[in-house]
Amino acid sequence: MPEILETILKERRSQPHQLIEVLHDIQEAQGYISRNAFETVSKELGIPLIEVFRVANFYKAFSLKPRGKHVITLCKGTACHVRGANPLIEQALTLLGVEEGEATDDGLFSVESVNCIGACALAPVVVLNETYHPHMTPAKLRALIRSVRRKEEKRANV
Ligand code: FES
Repeated sequence: MPEILETILKERRSQPHQLIEVLHDIQEAQGYISRNAFETVSKELGIPLIEVFRVANFYKAFSLKPRGKHVITLCKGTACHVRGANPLIEQALTLLGVEEGEATDDGLFSVESVNCIGACALAPVVVLNETYHPHMTPAKLRALIRSVRRKEEKRANV
């Protein structure tokens, strides 16, 4: 068992009520929940694998695929939808060449969508990592992605 899973499960073996906390800790540590982690959690907490999958699938906070280093979250709730969220989502996916929830080949980005993040007055809203970007437009989105790429390139060349 990988060391990180060993640490997370240490005090929680055979405690099925710890499932969400355990999944949360794995998500924090690995950025997603791997197949191996599912099987280990199932075995160690004594919960059928299908139940572990069901719970992880239910909560949007859990990712079953590796996330990019930078997560672009686009709101597609009603206020954002009527102000052009869908074309923004399409644009982000096309620019980065990924499907929703997938990481780019270089591992830098992934794109996710949510239903209302509670900032409707700022619609359409994009969240890059933890930072809200209000009144998003296609040009602003392109510039945002370009600026992250530039920073990452600079960092790689130092
Ligand atoms: S609908 Fe996008 S923040 Fe509410």
